[in-house]
Amino acid sequence: MIKTATYEGMCPWGVPSDALVEHHRALAAGGVGLTTVAYCAVSGDGRTFAEQMVMRPETVAPLRRVTGAVHREGGAASLQLGHCGWFTKNGSLSTWLPRGPSPVVNQYGISAGKPIALAMGEAEIAQVIEDFGRAAGLAREAGFDAVELHLGHGYLLSQFLCPATNRRRDAWGGELDGRARLPLAVLARVREAVGPGFPILCKTNLRDGFRGGLELPDSVGLAQRLEAAGADALVLSGGFTSRTPFYLFRGRRPLAEMIEAEKSRLQKLALRVFGGRVIREYPFEEMFFLPEAREVRKAVRMPLVLLGGIVSRANVERAMAEGFDFVALGRALIADPDLVNRMRADAAARSRCTHCNVCVAEMDLGGVRCVLDGPRAAG
Ligand SMILES: Cc1cc2nc3c(=O)[nH]c(=O)nc-3n(C[C@H](O)[C@H](O)[C@H](O)COP(=O)(O)O)c2cc1C
Repeated sequence: MIKTATYEGMCPWGVPSDALVEHHRALAAGGVGLTTVAYCAVSGDGRTFAEQMVMRPETVAPLRRVTGAVHREGGAASLQLGHCGWFTKNGSLSTWLPRGPSPVVNQYGISAGKPIALAMGEAEIAQVIEDFGRAAGLAREAGFDAVELHLGHGYLLSQFLCPATNRRRDAWGGELDGRARLPLAVLARVREAVGPGFPILCKTNLRDGFRGGLELPDSVGLAQRLEAAGADALVLSGGFTSRTPFYLFRGRRPLAEMIEAEKSRLQKLALRVFGGRVIREYPFEEMFFLPEAREVRKAVRMPLVLLGGIVSRANVERAMAEGFDFVALGRALIADPDLVNRMRADAAARSRCTHCNVCVAEMDLGGVRCVLDGPRAAG
């Protein structure tokens, strides 16, 4: 049972706080086998917004407190490593404009003065590969039992994989082999940094969820390439945050809460005027990625993690019966950190999560939490 990465918002000035330690300790105490510390940028330019954690030598000691607390509860910890590419509203990049596979309009960055992005050059691509390797080495030093490479959700490696956002004509674009070249180079460099035997999970998209995006035949092909390249497990997800943000969650679209939580006035106005039209809602279903994930299951032998709308012990049993090796849960464990222990004791156990997605709208407001716990404490 894996706690999947859900951005905690518990790294003021990019430094992991006591709240982050307690958050993951409680999950391990609640029976989770492997808890994933969410989105750690591999470099300053890999941050979507400025408050995100960046892997630097100074981050190792505070992260060691997180892994120590998890280990004392008998759990294991994984660190999600990512780079946002052009999906950023971080005002303090090393270049004036963000970089990605191909030039693009970055609506998300307008208020931060980053409205367009440029294509990466060879040196920038080489730097990203190096940054992933260095960050993974530091994660191991911080006591993590695994790392998870973020290849999905419209971040840099997913931007490279997506045909609509990777229009390069060089060796880093084109057919799947070209578009998968950067994720595979990152995996190879990370393997070199952490050594053989250290678990590397990859979080991949089954589908991006929009026309021109990554589709199932390519995601199956990607899974086969990652298996051949020595990834230890795949966490199967989907969606492209800048275009289909609720494809990855399903359930209620919390537009009013998103408007309320937005700090930039310009972005608030844009959400008010266009939000209802551009942010699509997708109905919630239990185990919503199962049909597509089955296709990957048929194509590879490697361990696979089923994710998305797993809320009950019955769901977990079904996933195991379908041949998946692990399940990962996000919102169900935000709502009930002790759900795994309850599942162990009670065959009828299920999460109280209602997929209202307020935790998504408010994730940046001082620590991820479940709205069913009542009003947020002041301050
Ligand atoms: C508040 C919140 C924050 C999230 N942050 C991340 C993240 O940092 N990295 C990531 O890969 N996925 C993130 N996700 C997506 C989850 O990992 C997961 O893919 C999604 O919630 C579907 O799983 P679930 O139905 O079990 O919640 C986040 C989800 C939530 C609810």
